[in-house]
Amino acid sequence: MSSIRPQRVDAPLTQFATFLVLTVNPSAPSLQTVRSTLSDLSDLTKNILIRDPSANFTCTVGIGSTIWDPLTRLPRPSELRPFPEIHGDKHTAISTPGDLLFHIRSERRDLCFEFERQLLDRLGPAVTVIDETVGFRYFDMRDLLGFVDGTANPIGPAVPEAVLVTTSTEANSAAVGGSYIVVQKYLHNLTAWKSLSTEHQERIIGRTKLDNIELEDAEAGAQQSHKSLATIEDDTGEEYAIVRDNMPFGSPGSGEFGTYFIGYTARLWVIEKMLERMFVGEPRGKHDRILDFSTPKTGGTFFAPASGVLDSLDN
Ligand code: HEM
Ligand SMILES: *[C@@H]1O[C@H](CO)[C@@H](O)[C@H](O)[C@H]1NC(C)=O
Ligand SMILES: *[C@@H]1O[C@H](CO)[C@@H](O)[C@H](O)[C@H]1NC(C)=O
Repeated sequence: MSSIRPQRVDAPLTQFATFLVLTVNPSAPSLQTVRSTLSDLSDLTKNILIRDPSANFTCTVGIGSTIWDPLTRLPRPSELRPFPEIHGDKHTAISTPGDLLFHIRSERRDLCFEFERQLLDRLGPAVTVIDETVGFRYFDMRDLLGFVDGTANPIGPAVPEAVLVTTSTEANSAAVGGSYIVVQKYLHNLTAWKSLSTEHQERIIGRTKLDNIELEDAEAGAQQSHKSLATIEDDTGEEYAIVRDNMPFGSPGSGEFGTYFIGYTARLWVIEKMLERMFVGEPRGKHDRILDFSTPKTGGTFFAPASGVLDSLDN
């Protein structure tokens, strides 16, 4: 039973989230430390969770492509590969190092902090911190561009359908019950964004700002909105949803304003296709105008195996 229990990819959107990207130092003892830490992750989580069960503490860990084989010694999820650098005419989605991603969520910032402290204590010199971003909920789930973010996310039974690998998407038993994760840390130029009219901003996003109403798609060949470029259909017209748990982050004192994009999916190609359409454009050259105000500083792909797979990593 517990062998197919997923990590909490379906966790509710919380007030706080920490996104922690690490590399694993390449030595046998480091790999062993990471294996034993990941196989104890449910105990580490419980240790924090019981301090305040109402604060919805969860942690999901994703494993990167390069470290998958030596770390897990399990068959690879069939689509797992490094984040592909995507070059549009004007903007580039860069690919940056990362072996492990921890997506740490709670209603309480102190629980996220304490978990991360205990986790890094335990991992010690086996890992190097590449990026640590602390996100927060901004009003009614708005991003720092001022738009409500996450509306098109699936809900209820559509969530596992969108994010969890099943035997119909994958023959590989180590992948079943897990999820692909893609992250990008974006910095916004709010000075430039705020110089646009609200109507112009709405055309870029594809929704109205105040009441979050979806706008019609532009006609074929014309400049598409972010919403349209990020909508993926196959030849039969079937739409492939992903789950996004984006969080704003930043520091007005240092002029930093960002969105941490995190997408979960059962089909990695769906998110890669979204990125292709955003950066290259559809048609080519008509890139997503959100990118004229948002620059990705990181890019990484991970696979979050089911918790039963994590538990057995140390065997
Ligand atoms: C600068 C970073 C980004 C910001 C601020 C942002 C913001 C938004 C907003 C405001 C919406 C409309 C409301 C909603 O449906 O949630 C949206 C929709 C969406 N975004 Fe993004 N987004 C960003 C990056 C990305 C990236 C990198 C991807 C995928 C690779 C993505 C995928 C989607 C999808 C799938 C939708 C829903 C489209 C639909 O209506 O079906 N977003 N985003
Ligand atoms: C925790 O999550 C549940 C289920 O989504 C939600 O109903 C509840 O309000 C959350 N708790 C807090 C303190 O926000
Ligand atoms: C942000 O945009 C403004 C106005 O378009 C421009 O002058 C400025 O150089 C940009 N800032 C950065 C950091 O790119």
